[in-house]
Amino acid sequence: MNTEKSVRSLEKIVALCKRRGFVYPSAEIYGGLNGVYDFGHLGSIIKSNLRQAWIESLQNSFGPIVMFEGALLGPEAVWKASGHVDHFSDPMVDCLNCKRRFRADDPDVAKGCPACGKKDSWTPVRQFNMMFKTEVGAAADGSSIAYLRPETAQAIFINFKNVLSTTRVKIPFGIAQIGKAFRNEITPKQFLFRMREFEQMEMEWFCHADGAQKYFEFWCAHRLNFYRMIGIDMNNIRQRPHEKDELAHYSTCCTDVEYNFPFGWKEMEGIAHRGTFDLTQHSKFSGKDLSVFDEETKTSFVPTVVECSVGTDRAFLMLLFDAYAEDVVEGETRIVLRLAPRMAPVKAAILPLTKKQTEPATKLYEDLKKLGHQIEFDESGSIGKRYRRQDEIGTPVCITYDFDSDNDQCVTVRDRDTTKQERIALDQVAAYIKKMLGK
Ligand code: GAP
Repeated sequence: MNTEKSVRSLEKIVALCKRRGFVYPSAEIYGGLNGVYDFGHLGSIIKSNLRQAWIESLQNSFGPIVMFEGALLGPEAVWKASGHVDHFSDPMVDCLNCKRRFRADDPDVAKGCPACGKKDSWTPVRQFNMMFKTEVGAAADGSSIAYLRPETAQAIFINFKNVLSTTRVKIPFGIAQIGKAFRNEITPKQFLFRMREFEQMEMEWFCHADGAQKYFEFWCAHRLNFYRMIGIDMNNIRQRPHEKDELAHYSTCCTDVEYNFPFGWKEMEGIAHRGTFDLTQHSKFSGKDLSVFDEETKTSFVPTVVECSVGTDRAFLMLLFDAYAEDVVEGETRIVLRLAPRMAPVKAAILPLTKKQTEPATKLYEDLKKLGHQIEFDESGSIGKRYRRQDEIGTPVCITYDFDSDNDQCVTVRDRDTTKQERIALDQVAAYIKKMLGK
């Protein structure tokens, strides 16, 4: 069998996502909304597998990490304090010829207008704030201004004292959150890579300034476990420490976890030493004391923050790219998603060979569903076609109930990656699936 991964391309991933119902362009019947996507059945299961793995990867570290779920809307004061109102902008230019807008720092813009091709026909560079602004309530005055959050982190910072006083955690500890963020990107692109509405998985680690550098290094090393856990080929992962001129003024160090996409090495996750900036700012703007009291030294201090922030949708895209392969099986090219079993949306498919086996195969299906995993039952089309469909959605095993099954009480289990088949006793199938999932 010949496995070829260099066949990965964005077009193929987008087509596969649409064909198999992983991802749809949002509001498609109205022409879509650029940079916004909806997730179908299989896509939403993969996202939930990613969230679960992320939480597990944090719990397998050290120290307490508590969960949190903040609001998506925040009053203007939050975003003034965080610096987003004044600084969360991208440089933008308009093409004087076709009036389309682009990020001024997009390398394609240097070659001419990506839409109409006109060269050197740009407005001066302006700063474009990427937050979505809205008004809350009936009175449209300054006090009603609110923003959809451009990152989940600020909701954690402004609730720091609430969490500290209600969850019995002590410094050092982490607060983790999974939720939506919104950015009015000038040019959303590369499918799920740069979206206007996306999800982040962020963990803010609160510690004493003395230990912060050590924790930063710990988190840089530990975060790689997440990528191993979800089955990413580690040759496609690297860490890139930021240059001094890339750092925010309050940050002493930051490292990106990058993935080797077909369109280049790109940021997947940011690990940042944020100093005391966030809590100090919110303390200053809200007038509330956000320091903690150290029982040992009998002094108060503002905790330092180390942040790990990864985009769920971007991780989803990485997962599909990493798993995508085409190979030749019995003279035919097939598309196969070599997802780690724990990330696969469907764990096993039950395929009766003919309609005659429907009844006993249904019984097996009902039994296996009790494991609590997504199991599919498919009896339509040739067995070859059914295998191909399951290969494309990454189902690790197909289980065929065939002509001999009634007699020998065995089924044929076909492995997605090798296409090898083995005969297994019906009463061993559940144990086989559990073992495959490491349970
Ligand atoms: N709280 C820090 C923060 O938000 P960021 O580097 O702007 O840092 C963190 O974002 C992660 O969120 C990125 O590494 C990426 O995975 C994801 N992300 C950011 N902007 C995104 C977008 N427009 N579309 C999809 N994912 C995005």
